[in-house]
Amino acid sequence: MCGIVGYLGKGIAQDSLIDGLRRLEYRGYDSAGVAFHEGNAFSMTRETGRVKNLANLVKRKSSKSSLGIAHTRWATHGSVTVSNTHPHVSHDGKFVMVHNGVIENFGTFKRFLTNKGIKFSSETDSEVLCNLIAYHYSELPDGDDRFVDAIRQALPKCRGAYGVAVLCLDYPDTMIGARRGSPLVVGLGDDANFIASDASAFVGRAKEAVFLNDGELAILNGSDFRITNLEGQEAQAVALPVDQISEEVELGDFDSYMEKEIYEQPTALKNTLRGRFGDDGTTSKLGGLEGHDEVLRDLDRIIFVACGTARHACMVGEYLIERLARVPVEVEHASEFRYRNSPKAGKSLVIAVSQSGETLDTLEAVRESKTKGLLTLGITNVVGSSLARETDGGVYQRVGPEIGVASTKAFSSQVCLCAMLGLALGRMRDLSPMDGQSIVEALNQLPGLVAQVLQQGEQIRELAIKYSKAEHLLFLGRQSLYPVALEGALKLKEISYAHAEGYPAAELKHGPIALINPECPSVFIVEGSDLSAKTIANMQEVKARNGPVLAIAPHSVEIPEEAADDVFLLPDSHEVVRPILANLPLQLFAYHFARLRGLDVDKPRNLAKSVTVE
Ligand code: G6P
Repeated sequence: MCGIVGYLGKGIAQDSLIDGLRRLEYRGYDSAGVAFHEGNAFSMTRETGRVKNLANLVKRKSSKSSLGIAHTRWATHGSVTVSNTHPHVSHDGKFVMVHNGVIENFGTFKRFLTNKGIKFSSETDSEVLCNLIAYHYSELPDGDDRFVDAIRQALPKCRGAYGVAVLCLDYPDTMIGARRGSPLVVGLGDDANFIASDASAFVGRAKEAVFLNDGELAILNGSDFRITNLEGQEAQAVALPVDQISEEVELGDFDSYMEKEIYEQPTALKNTLRGRFGDDGTTSKLGGLEGHDEVLRDLDRIIFVACGTARHACMVGEYLIERLARVPVEVEHASEFRYRNSPKAGKSLVIAVSQSGETLDTLEAVRESKTKGLLTLGITNVVGSSLARETDGGVYQRVGPEIGVASTKAFSSQVCLCAMLGLALGRMRDLSPMDGQSIVEALNQLPGLVAQVLQQGEQIRELAIKYSKAEHLLFLGRQSLYPVALEGALKLKEISYAHAEGYPAAELKHGPIALINPECPSVFIVEGSDLSAKTIANMQEVKARNGPVLAIAPHSVEIPEEAADDVFLLPDSHEVVRPILANLPLQLFAYHFARLRGLDVDKPRNLAKSVTVE
């Protein structure tokens, strides 16, 4: 949610900042801007729309400054206009700031500052914060620490979340960053240091990354840097090599990241699975859970907290874990869990699942769980993310950066890890070695089966052409394929803006059937179990009402001709991997459906990859 990048170095800031913004664009793409310290003033360039619009303007101006900050915005306060675009400059021209997050009590400061005669040129909370810093600065005596002290006085007054990078005209060699709730990381290079909301912004330019914790400030001065808390005490800076954070962010031969990431899934899943099985081949071995054996063996309940696609993965996990380990599982919207005060029952484990590891709703659910003394584990893709750092243990997805806003490979690996967790917990309880072995085999075969399904991509494209005029679609499935139906509907509406809803197949007759007509196709995801006969009966109910039916079904399930207009066949597979396989054609369906409408699948309107506001 909004991308921040700042450069302080020996070279020219411009190219690093624009390149950083391009890499961060997945975080928001309503508008973008940059400010350079030019000695006696800041030069600002801001533009609505994509980073490329800004880049053209910046190139023409060609600043030689070696200190600058930049931002790509996902609008929260104020519409998408140039004046609401970051950076924001203080009324006296002394401070310039980029901000990610929401300052909940900005109205109070705005009134206070307006009474002092300060005029605002935007509707944003960020411009108010920038002026609050300027106000404190004006009240402080001269001295080396005046800049940082102004920030230290302003930030504790703020409620809400922030990740900020700030420059002061009087300090031509200093850049300060601070975070609470919104991620911020310092990049350390040979010729320049950086502040960014995500390490991908300086991949290839910085060697090490230092992730800030909530309540910390990064003070970059010349080639030095230090981390302190808001009271000024030095904090520990742990540097991680940037090449570990990954460079796999190039598009290669693909037209979009979404397509690239769909087709990366065989490799991504191999990486998720690699080295994670016990030597006897009957269980999984997840390093991040080590040391928690006793708690895991003795669990009464698992509570998953997550948002969006990650929550759908958890819902599949609920079916898999209950089936394999016989542990009760609940799946909560992270945003609801935090405020729900769910009763403490027995020995509960909270598992937070988040591709980015920065979704604020999910992080707050973790923080609330810790307050209640619950053990928290994280499943995340981003090494060093807030989720990875704040949970008691956890597992990395290892699928490489996911840039497309619509999550694809991350979902598959999250489901895969839920199956592995179910297997480990099952084997600690009453899952037999034989059953364990067959699940290990099924998981090991998964990457190959995924590749096999993706090879049928052309068939899905043809189906997408056939159905692409539809404005309303239903997705229906049972058991672990019900969340897959939800995910199929979510993917389609996220990127094509067609209206799609997911339901348990049997719920059709309790409401959604009223929508059925020749213009409203139903996509049925058929399981390979005894239940398939019931799902086929639901398909016939739709056909009887002249609704078009597309069935996604395993090879061995016979779909009567009169029950479906089209059938996409999946390889037969073990039930633990079936949800992942069944979701692949739905990812491709959404992708082609949106492309046929001429839409940018990587940057769907109003969405952002990582939502770091509540
Ligand atoms: C946003 C994205 C979704 C994503 C959700 C959770 O809403 O648009 O695609 O599923 O956040 O993201 P996370 O990083 O926590 O998995």
